[in-house]
Amino acid sequence: MKEILNVDNEEYARKCFEKAVEIGIDFKLNGSVKEKNFNVTDLEKLLLLPSDGSNPMEVLTEFNDEIVPYCTNFSNENFMGFPDAGNSIAGISGAIVSDFMQQNLINSTFCAPIATFMEFAVIKWLRELVGYEIVPIKSVFDSGGIITYGGTGSNTTAMLLARENFRKNTMFTGVNNPEDFKVIIPKGIGHYSIKSACMWIGCGDNVIEVETKDFKYDLDELKRTLVENKGHVMCVVAYVGDSRTMTIDNLEEIYKIVKDVDENIWLHADACHGFSLAFSSKLKDKIRGINLFDSISTDPHKVLAIPYCISALLLKNPEKLKLVSSTSDLIMQEDFAYGQVTPFIGSKSWISLKLWFAMKSIGINGYEKIIDRRCEMAKYLENQINNSEDFVMINDVNINSVVFMYVGDKSNLNSSMVDKLNELNLALYERLLKEGKYYLHKFSLPDSKGVFEKDVNLIPLRYMSGNDNITGEDINNMLDHIRILAKEIVDE
Ligand SMILES: Cc1ncc(COP(=O)(O)O)c(C=O)c1O
Repeated sequence: MKEILNVDNEEYARKCFEKAVEIGIDFKLNGSVKEKNFNVTDLEKLLLLPSDGSNPMEVLTEFNDEIVPYCTNFSNENFMGFPDAGNSIAGISGAIVSDFMQQNLINSTFCAPIATFMEFAVIKWLRELVGYEIVPIKSVFDSGGIITYGGTGSNTTAMLLARENFRKNTMFTGVNNPEDFKVIIPKGIGHYSIKSACMWIGCGDNVIEVETKDFKYDLDELKRTLVENKGHVMCVVAYVGDSRTMTIDNLEEIYKIVKDVDENIWLHADACHGFSLAFSSKLKDKIRGINLFDSISTDPHKVLAIPYCISALLLKNPEKLKLVSSTSDLIMQEDFAYGQVTPFIGSKSWISLKLWFAMKSIGINGYEKIIDRRCEMAKYLENQINNSEDFVMINDVNINSVVFMYVGDKSNLNSSMVDKLNELNLALYERLLKEGKYYLHKFSLPDSKGVFEKDVNLIPLRYMSGNDNITGEDINNMLDHIRILAKEIVDE
């Protein structure tokens, strides 16, 4: 049988795996951001249930010819809006190997013996980098963190921990008064996962949004809100690189304000992006105070040049994992079974292996260079924009995100132009998508810095350097391309 790997078809299988790798490399190194746009009217064909199968090589060929042209290539130098190209050679190797190894980190002794301990190592490395205390590991409850499939999963578990920490045994009693389980986030810049997590875990739509200044908490407003809601707030979330502008909040000040009002409030740092600065001796001071927070979400798949998916939730006090543990005779009651402390996740593949590979290969010193360069490229673009006549910056670059708008002539900006400029930048985004030559991201964002008018709604473009092959020349070409498109749109 050709479909199932065994000693008799070894040679054929090797050829298939070689072909799979070849397709991957060819895709990453050639072509544009996207060759073709898929038409939804062709969906019917994709939905057909395959009855007579084809052999694996035929499937690979069909995939290469008919699917790959429609894929977005994060590796292309013109893909500039969203992290991460995921191009660490060791990281990709780890991703491939982990699927061969077929370890399941729900249990340790019989299905992931060494993998569990290697996952402890990866978590310990991340804890060390962010400055958390390292404790000896006698059981999974000392590991100080869990690997999840993404920042959304890590944030959701953080909210669950906050809930259990705030009202012990809610796991057993259920949430009685959801309005007593409030979570505070900064207004207009939060990631939806916090609000959704609160809803998923039964705390309802009780998120309080606090006003921001320059994409950070307005600290007076934060304090006022905490005092006003004292006794009803289970968690405060701060961004160490918010999803849109990558602004880092005032971590030490937030810690002091929150814990002064109520020691029992859980402080969560969403550092899915910003933990990357811990690798850089030059930049790590920007995240000073992160180790004061009760939990930290990190997303290696956004910032460490490795393929999707992997996130890690780290806990200041490892013991707190006991608050959300699961007991079942289906999970081994053994010291090192991770399934006991990974809410929402049962079987879990060895997703931490790609990070282990990349860390072993690139090392902290190599990552320092990568992170520094990504931030330098963002600064380079910020500089080009500030020195231009026709683009305007919407944020100050903190990490690697440059939020900007094409304005035509920036000598006389005022709030009456906002609607027209939003329309123009939205049209630019749509044209970029249709063309497939470049990718920049877009979203709506309050004008927290007051470039046009404080808190007016903007629709800017966003560059983000999560691709280590982007050069200054690529960035200049991108700006010129936007100018050409803008002229076309205005002339139409
Ligand atoms: C700050 C922040 N937190 C959490 C998330 C969610 O991460 P994921 O998409 O890995 O679930 C994102 C995603 O963009 C993010 O930017």
